Amino acid sequence: MMRAVQYNSYGGGAAALKNGLCGHCCLANSPTSLVPYFFLLFSSRLFPITGYTIFFGAGIDVAGEVVEVGLGVKNYKAGHKVVAVLSNENGGALAEFAVAKENMTVSRPQEVSAEQGAALPIAGLTAHECLLRIAGFEDDGSGQQVNILITAASGGVGQYAVQLAKLGNAHVTASCGARNIDLIKSLGADEVIDYKTPEGEALKSPSGRKYDAVIHCATAFPWSTFEPNLSANGKVFDITPRPTAFMTFALKKLTFSKKQLVPMIMTPKKEKLDYLVKLVKEGKIKAVIDSKHPLSKAEEAWAKSISGHATGKIIVEP
Ligand SMILES: NC(=O)c1ccc[n+]([C@@H]2O[C@H](COP(=O)([O-])OP(=O)(O)OC[C@H]3O[C@@H](n4cnc5c(N)ncnc54)[C@H](OP(=O)(O)O)[C@@H]3O)[C@@H](O)[C@H]2O)c1
Repeated sequence: MMRAVQYNSYGGGAAALKNGLCGHCCLANSPTSLVPYFFLLFSSRLFPITGYTIFFGAGIDVAGEVVEVGLGVKNYKAGHKVVAVLSNENGGALAEFAVAKENMTVSRPQEVSAEQGAALPIAGLTAHECLLRIAGFEDDGSGQQVNILITAASGGVGQYAVQLAKLGNAHVTASCGARNIDLIKSLGADEVIDYKTPEGEALKSPSGRKYDAVIHCATAFPWSTFEPNLSANGKVFDITPRPTAFMTFALKKLTFSKKQLVPMIMTPKKEKLDYLVKLVKEGKIKAVIDSKHPLSKAEEAWAKSISGHATGKIIVEP
C-alpha cells in the first residue's frame, strides 16, 4: 500500500508530520460509479473557475472495505464495509485504494452489495435533494400528492428520482428513449413519454396534467418548453444548468414569478446518504446498472458515461 505523511494543521515543526490519513479511512476493493458532470470540470470550459489541479479523479462515489484508519477516526476500523463520497483533495475513486473522510462515510449493511453502494451517492443524493425542495412533498409519503416530471429518467439521477418520488406518493411522468420505456414503468413511473416524439419534445403529460415540479436531468430545454406545462406555482429543478438557466432564475425572482427555474448543484450530506443506504437495504430503491468495467478499461467506461446514453449507472471495479 502507498503510505503518506502530511501536516494536518499549521505549526509543530518536523514532529507535526502525521499519518496522512488523519480523519480519513483508507478503503480497498472499492468499486466506483461515474458521474458525467465531472467531464465538464475537467474540460477547458470551466478552467478559469476550477483550475486543472483541483480535481484528481473522475469518480467520487465508492463502496469498499476499510483497511486502515487515521488519527481521530472514531466509527470505523479495518474490515468495516462502507459507502462514501470522496473529496476532491484526496483524489478520485478510479484507483486500487481510495481515501474517504469519515464525515462522508456511512456503514454498508450486508444486504447492500458493493455495486449497489457505489452506484448510489451522487445520483441518489441529487435526486433526493431535488425532491425535498418540492413544496408539499415528503419523502415518506405523508405529504400531499404532487405531479412531477422527471426528464432523462433512464439516467443515473433520473432512475433514483422516479423511485424516490413514488415512495413519496407523487404522480410521476418520466421522459426517456423508446428502448427504456418498459424499464422506467417498472421503476414505478405512472406515465412515460418518448423524448424523440413531438409530445416528448414538448414535455406534454399524456393525461394532460400540469407539473408542480420538474426534475430536469436532460439538457438543452428552453424555459419556453417548460412554462406551459407547469402548474400555477410550478418549479423546474435544473441539475444541468447552463448560463441561460441562471439568467432565467434571476429574471423569475426579480419579476416575482410564481413559476420558477432553480439551478441545482447537490451538496452531499452524510445523514442523507445513510438514509438512502437504508432504503437500498430495505429493497425500496435499487440502481439500474448500465455496465461494469475493470479499472484497466476505465477509459471505455468514461467514454460511455460522457456519451449521455447510459441506462442507469456505470460501474468501474478495481
Ligand atoms: N447538479 C448536480 O449536482 C448533478 C449531479 C449529478 C449529475 N448531474 C448531471 O445530470 C445529468 C444527468 O446525469 P445522469 O448520470 O443522471 O444521466 P446520464 O447518464 O447523462 O443520462 C443518460 C440517459 O438519458 C437519456 N436521455 C438523453 N437525452 C435525453 C432527453 N433529451 N430526454 C430524455 N432522456 C434523455 C438517455 O437515453 P438514450 O440513450 O435512449 O438517448 C440515457 O438513458 C448529467 O449532465 C450530469 O452531469 C448533475
